[in-house]
This record gives sequence, C-alpha cells and structure tokens, in this order.
Amino acid sequence: MSTTTRPLVPGELKFPRGFLWGASTSAHQIEGNNHNDWSEWELENAERLAQAAPRKYAHWLPAWERIKSQATNPQNYISGKAAEHYTRYETDFDLIEELGLNTYRLSLEWSRIEPQKGEFDHEAIAHYREMIASLQKRGIQPFVTLWHWTLPTWVSDIGGWQNMETVKYFSRYVYKMVSELPEVSNWVTLNEAEIYTRQAYLEGDWPPQKRTYIHYWMINNNLMAAHKEAYKHVKMVNPEAQVGIVQNNTYFEPIRNRWFNRLLASFLSWWHNRFLLNTIQDHLDFIGVNYYFHNTVNLAKDFKPHCDRSDMGWDLCTYGIYYVLKELQRYGKPVYVTENGLADAGDVYRAGFIKETLNYVHQAIAEGVDVRGYFHWSLLDNFEWDKGFWPRFGLVAVDYATQERTIRPSAKIYAKIAKSNSL
Ligand code: BGC
Repeated sequence: MSTTTRPLVPGELKFPRGFLWGASTSAHQIEGNNHNDWSEWELENAERLAQAAPRKYAHWLPAWERIKSQATNPQNYISGKAAEHYTRYETDFDLIEELGLNTYRLSLEWSRIEPQKGEFDHEAIAHYREMIASLQKRGIQPFVTLWHWTLPTWVSDIGGWQNMETVKYFSRYVYKMVSELPEVSNWVTLNEAEIYTRQAYLEGDWPPQKRTYIHYWMINNNLMAAHKEAYKHVKMVNPEAQVGIVQNNTYFEPIRNRWFNRLLASFLSWWHNRFLLNTIQDHLDFIGVNYYFHNTVNLAKDFKPHCDRSDMGWDLCTYGIYYVLKELQRYGKPVYVTENGLADAGDVYRAGFIKETLNYVHQAIAEGVDVRGYFHWSLLDNFEWDKGFWPRFGLVAVDYATQERTIRPSAKIYAKIAKSNSL
C-alpha cells in the first residue's frame, strides 16, 4: 500500500497500558427483523435502488463486475434478517473473545425498546441487559451507542429530528436505558449526526429523503440539543458514567503545501470536523472519532492521492488518521477511534490497512494525543444502509444464506496486535 506524505515508523510499537482494542457494530445493520423508519424506507425504495445501481456505480467502481448481480437485485436493499445477531449474539460474542478484544461498541435499537410512544418493551430491555451481562462476563467492556441513525416509526411520523419534541422523547428513552443498564460506564449519545443530516436532509439519499438548507441547520441544532440533554440525563442517573459523541472526521490534505490550499483545507476542517463539536464541548467526557475519509484540497489542478481503493471505491490513505487525531488534541479530552475499516470482500487490503492505521494512531499517541482505544468497523459483515449487503466490512465474514460466520485472515492479525497490545 502506498502513501503520499507520512512515513511509517519502523519496529515494534507498544500501546499504552489499558489501551482498548475493539470492534464496532450498529443494531439495525446486524440484528435483523427491525421495524423502524429505515426498514419501511427500504421496502419502499429497494426497487428504485436496484435499478439505479448500474448508473451510479458501473463506470467507476472497481468491484462492479463482482457485485453487479447483487447490486441490481432489490432484495439486496432490504435489511430483513440481516446477520440475525439479535438471536445469535452469544456466539458472536464468542468470536470477540476468540479475537482477544477487550471492548465492543454496539448500539441500542430505540424502535425495539419503545415501539409505541411511552410504551417500553420489557423483553427488549431484558434482551439488551442480557447482552451487556454476557459481554461483561467475558471481560469485554461495552461502549453503548444510544442512537445510530434509525428511529421508531412513531418518531419519524412526527418529523423525526426535525421536530424539537423528538429531543424530549429521546431524553426520556436515554434516561430509561441508563437506569436499566447501570453497569454500562461508556455511553455514546449520537453516531455521526453531521453525516446523517447531510445524507438525509441535504443530499436527500436517506430517509426521510429531503433536500432543504433551512431544515438542515435546524436539525443539526436539534441533534446537538439532543446530545446535551442526553449527556445531562446519563449523568443524572449515573454520574460516574463517561459520555461522548461520535463524529466522522475527514483529513483535508492541502496539496503541495500552497497557501491557498492550506487556507481552504483549514476552513474545511473547521467546518466539517469541529463546528458541531465546538457547540457541545462542555458536555463531553470523550470524543469518539470514526475515520474513513481523506480529501485532497487543490485549487490549482486535479490531484489524486496514490492510495489503494476499497470495494466501495473509498481510498485507503491511512495516514489521514494521524492528522484527524492531532486536530482533536485541542479539546483536551480522551479520544477513541470508534470506527475505522473498509469494504474488502476478498480481504486483500484489510490486514495492511489495519497495521498502517495503527502505526499512525501510535504516532499520534506518541505526540501526546490521548487516544484510549481503537474499534475496527466492523465485527461482522453487515447491512450497509442504502448500499445494502454487498459491501463487506467484517473482521468476520457472514454467509447470509446459512448465517455461518468465518473469521477472516486479517482478523487474526488484528487479534495478535490486540492480544500483545503492540504492533
Ligand atoms: C457508519 C456505519 C457505516 C460505516 C461504513 C459509518 O459512517 O457509522 O454505520 O456502516 O460508516 O460506511
């Protein structure tokens, strides 16, 4: 794998004692049989997404020939049984144990917990309680995300995050779940609020598929208000708990160090990476960062980074994580890499990608960034939102016909790193 700017540090690298090694998932992407705003949207849009796939991907996606029969099949866009993790979580947790990971990030499915307004489902709550107990019995520390993009239909019916009332309902749900799960000491309020609002309210690609600048701003504000309220509610129940948000930050690389590229790159970093974070920094015990993207900034001429590409065509420029982590140092809070990974069905790049990425994470730590853990996305192959099932992000492969799990070779390399706490 080639990088353009940052050299790798050679030799064995030790991570700080107590460093957390994990994997991330989200409920809707693996549980199966969810009923929420996304599952309804999938049924309404599967046909359209399948028809649009050749137009969207055929001309540029490296994996197109391999994935086209799946990408043009409407079934691909319906989460359905997904990885049946809701019923198979025990054996999936065996896999986490086998990989030697000491932490796991999962999300709670609000639509299961409160399927009707104000009516909590005790079985669903008991289920999540059992999951947490099962992780803790294995010595795996849970990081629990309260909202990873899906809404109960009664919430989407009142306008979702566009309606300020949703903040109140979300806080009530947060209060309930924190009371029900007192053993959880790390809570993530929201996953990637800014990606969600962009895709759902600017690009109009995700439910509720709107395109509106005015609402976009209002919704971002509502989400930040929801974060603050959630923060206060967690602390009310469990003052010791650590509460953070998860951001998807991008490295904007100024090309050839020209002043105008630097200026534009620093504006984009502020806008994309820090703007929302700045508004809630008094309500944060830690920052979770999901790192996937690296954008080159060049006003003069086109420039493409010389990096490999994943099955989804995302470039695998691992060194960007170093800059993204350094940028967060200014907040003086602990940082967790809450997601980082790639769609790589053949497992061609994953091991090298993980090793390079961790080398850069280590560099950031060596330079004083308080990075406390790394969670690979994802534990399992999963339902990749509007792309469906063909992108394969799992450390563990899932055969959706049989639900058989197979640990990918790269996961064994990651396991070695995790077990030895060194690279
Ligand atoms: C999201 C995940 C998603 C991953 C890969 C992240 O932005 O939190 O839900 O699967 O990216 O696209």
